[in-house]
Amino acid sequence: MSGPLSVVTGGASGIGRAVVDSLLRAGRPALILDRDAAALDAALAAAPPDADLAGAAVDISDAAQVARALEEALDGRPVCALVNNAGVAIERPFRETSVELFRAMLDVNVLGAVITAQTCLPLLERNGGGAIVNVASVSGLRGNYGRAAYGASKGALLTLTQVMATELAAENIRVNAVCPGPVETPLVKSVHTASATDQWRRLTPQGRYAAPQEIADAILWLLSEQASFVTGAALAVDGGFLSAGLRGAVDAA
Ligand SMILES: NC(=O)c1ccc[n+]([C@@H]2O[C@H](COP(=O)([O-])OP(=O)(O)OC[C@H]3O[C@@H](n4cnc5c(N)ncnc54)[C@H](O)[C@@H]3O)[C@@H](O)[C@H]2O)c1
Repeated sequence: MSGPLSVVTGGASGIGRAVVDSLLRAGRPALILDRDAAALDAALAAAPPDADLAGAAVDISDAAQVARALEEALDGRPVCALVNNAGVAIERPFRETSVELFRAMLDVNVLGAVITAQTCLPLLERNGGGAIVNVASVSGLRGNYGRAAYGASKGALLTLTQVMATELAAENIRVNAVCPGPVETPLVKSVHTASATDQWRRLTPQGRYAAPQEIADAILWLLSEQASFVTGAALAVDGGFLSAGLRGAVDAA
């Protein structure tokens, strides 16, 4: 491997996998950090033979694991982009959300992004700058039922995005967030009940879940030079969920 590459956490599944596939289609090198070793092996095996793709099975909430993985996989190779995408979700009312559950959610969704970004910073600087995208959620901006721990973690990630954008601009590093609405991924299948699925469809003006590629396309744009003056933004990729008020056409259809 040579030349600057993109690091994608949680790149073995769902949205992260779509980001990795997009990078590879564009001929860009990538490194996946994902704790699911079997899914990681499958993603690596599915890559075209000439793809410049590496992977490390790590838990991003463990700073020592992340540092070791980047050192072993990259050996000082510069990084031009980081997608903090790995995340965990649960649907649980606030009253029933234990402190342990809050901690576990914050550990991965917030501290995992902090750890990976801090570990990648010297490698981004070696590249002369670059771009970071944090994958948040519409649940970081709305009081969605059952999202106390998940929503709080994504809200924290949005504030973190703004602070990182402010502090890192001088180093030529842009930092943005995407806020996906509902997306067809393994994570959603494990969290959304039938009634939640029905509600998401009804409350989303476009009336459907996104494909992972639709979120990946927005992430790739934020990473690109076309977004060269965009930093500190939270881009909703949500079929209109955050904008919606009174409903008409989709319900009536
Ligand atoms: N699917 C949705 O509807 C939706 C909506 C809004 C936001 N998001 C966010 O998008 C991101 C990706 O979600 P997805 O739906 O593609 O989920 P997914 O479960 O398909 O993929 C997530 C990947 O992250 C990995 N991962 C989880 N915890 C990890 C850890 N501690 N260390 C390393 N890897 C870890 C998993 O192994 C998995 O491969 C998450 O941050 C999620 O919160 C998803």
